[in-house]
Amino acid sequence: MKNIAIFASGTGSNATKIVAHLKNHASIKVALIISNKATAPVLQMAATNNIPTLLLHRQDFYNTENLLTNLAEYKIDFIALAGFLWLIPPYLVQAFENKIANIHPALLPKYGGKGMYGMNVHKAVHANKEKESGITIHFVNEHYDEGNIIFQASCPIDPQDDPSIIQKQVLVLEHQYFPTIIESLLLM
Ligand code: GAR
Repeated sequence: MKNIAIFASGTGSNATKIVAHLKNHASIKVALIISNKATAPVLQMAATNNIPTLLLHRQDFYNTENLLTNLAEYKIDFIALAGFLWLIPPYLVQAFENKIANIHPALLPKYGGKGMYGMNVHKAVHANKEKESGITIHFVNEHYDEGNIIFQASCPIDPQDDPSIIQKQVLVLEHQYFPTIIESLLLM
């Protein structure tokens, strides 16, 4: 069995799709859900699915390596960042080299980097009158959104699409592809 930890800070719609896709999987299990927000809806979703959770504190995350002990306890082989906005510290990148995948709501290398998350991305794409946007699934290194790209998918943008419409279209692609890409990375 390969064990995954999902890191999520937001509504957790991607985390929910990953959990649903891997439910009763023969060889992959979502063994832990980690959030940095006590009120994140993703923690309720975890409880509903009987998945253990861990709440991250900034001081611990950046100034200690205690998290590695937690990840070892749950025998975590792979980490999926599904709407997790803190920069991954070097000790974690090194312990999980090419074993952390992030989903980003744009076609990297455009619209990446610090501050480029969630709606900020879609507003920038809209302001620049882009004709397409999409998703990037990439391995995580010490820099925001710079790790090697695993997969991209795009969607066209109509001139009348506002940022919230772009967000919805991109989210459809996220839900469509992130769970299966994670599965294929783990079956490799
Ligand atoms: C997703 O759109 C994801 O791509 C984005 O946060 C959203 C989380 O949604 N991540 C980033 O912007 C990372 N830079 P969710 O909580 O509904 O899965």
